[in-house]
Amino acid sequence: MQLCALLTVLGLLVTGSRAQGLMPTVSLPPCDSPEAEAAALAAQGFLNAQHTHGYKYVLNQIDEIKVVSRPLQADTYHLELDFLETTCHVLDPTPVSLCPVRQKINTAVEADCDFVLANTTLGFSVVAFKCKTETESEDECLGCPQLVALNDTDGLQLIQTSLDYFNKNNTLNTKFALLEIGRMGSQIVSGGARYFAEYAIIGTNCTSQDNDICIPQNHTVAIHGLCLAAGSADGVDCKIFASTQASNATVRVQQLLHAHTFGPQHNPAIHDLKHHKLTALHDPSASGLLSAESIEVAVAAPVAAAAPKEAPIVKRQVAPQEVPAVDATVSEKATLLSGPVQLVPICPGKKKHF
Ligand SMILES: *[C@@H]1O[C@H](CO)[C@@H](O)[C@H](O)[C@H]1NC(C)=O
Ligand SMILES: *[C@@H]1O[C@H](CO)[C@@H](O)[C@H](O)[C@H]1NC(C)=O
Ligand SMILES: *[C@@H]1O[C@H](CO)[C@@H](O)[C@H](O)[C@H]1NC(C)=O
Ligand SMILES: *[C@@H]1O[C@H](CO)[C@@H](O)[C@H](O)[C@H]1NC(C)=O
Ligand SMILES: *[C@@H]1O[C@H](CO)[C@@H](O)[C@H](O)[C@H]1NC(C)=O
Ligand SMILES: *[C@@H]1O[C@H](CO)[C@@H](O)[C@H](O)[C@H]1NC(C)=O
Repeated sequence: MQLCALLTVLGLLVTGSRAQGLMPTVSLPPCDSPEAEAAALAAQGFLNAQHTHGYKYVLNQIDEIKVVSRPLQADTYHLELDFLETTCHVLDPTPVSLCPVRQKINTAVEADCDFVLANTTLGFSVVAFKCKTETESEDECLGCPQLVALNDTDGLQLIQTSLDYFNKNNTLNTKFALLEIGRMGSQIVSGGARYFAEYAIIGTNCTSQDNDICIPQNHTVAIHGLCLAAGSADGVDCKIFASTQASNATVRVQQLLHAHTFGPQHNPAIHDLKHHKLTALHDPSASGLLSAESIEVAVAAPVAAAAPKEAPIVKRQVAPQEVPAVDATVSEKATLLSGPVQLVPICPGKKKHF
């Protein structure tokens, strides 16, 4: 019996190594390795360029990384990443590395994303991603700032009056129109609720004095900004962005933004949520890599080691009851080849912020 099992295992080892030339190999680099970092930063750049509403996101932690290599194909990097919301609007040209991270007390938004990237000769390119966005903590504490729905009447009133104030009184002598509401909230202070709001603005064809119909300028040439208003109309502070015409990323953002913001399409009701969500699933080439649980492929090897992944082709050749035997052989072999087992956890990587 034992001999029989041994022979089966040996047989499978031979078959396995012969098939290995065709099978994908999986490696698990440490989450804080330069390689993982480079892939994660490429994902961050893509996410921010692709994202058309709200704020830029910054990488907080690399939870998992798996590199799948197939003969004659670019390696694919499968990453699980945590992002935090910054206070820079997506139209703000400030590099994300210089953007302040929104603090937890201000009900920051967090995103957990799965990315698949290909390492091509031109560098990393995003194949697909999937994100889940949620607010970190909305403590029910009395006196804490709370976000309100983006169609909240009192919040909208503050935006209207503070924008009017800014329009009459800015050094650019330009009237701006509301482009997008970033967030609105209220805080209970002595004397009642105090509202605050953050919103993006776009320059129109009117000067501050014009009492005319004011039409937002074409996105590619318009001035944009982000206003913070708190309490009352005159408590408004708007940061006007430097022109971003030359930047690669924003050209794409601007085209997309046009679809659902100001003008006839502008509809605050589409935002009855309290914050902007990231694209939930992005898979332009219909790779299907993230639509199901495919990212969850479990790889047993605890350290960076080339462990053959069960490729669908192989599974079909092997009788179902023998599949566990293959897996056992494979992970034993991987452990043997990888030398002493490293006990230091290599994933998740360290948190960059909090
Ligand atoms: C990506 O692939 C190229 C070869 O095409 C290789 O030189 C480079 O090291 C790879 N990048 C990473 C981060 O592994
Ligand atoms: C412009 O701002 C100044 C102070 O910042 C304020 O005193 C003045 O009332 C404002 N003008 C208008 C028209 O809102
Ligand atoms: C802005 O453009 C609109 C539409 O072209 C026009 O009706 C309006 O008079 C313009 N406003 C000013 C101040 O030129
Ligand atoms: C905006 O301006 C760009 C460049 O001048 C032009 O290509 C584009 O067609 C304009 N878009 C609209 C909606 O007018
Ligand atoms: C656009 O992107 C390319 C490649 O990433 C880069 O070489 C170029 O400098 C960028 N152009 C601008 C204006 O940022
Ligand atoms: C906000 O939107 C929700 C859902 O569309 C709606 O039920 C609610 O009445 C709206 N509130 C206001 C103040 O318009």
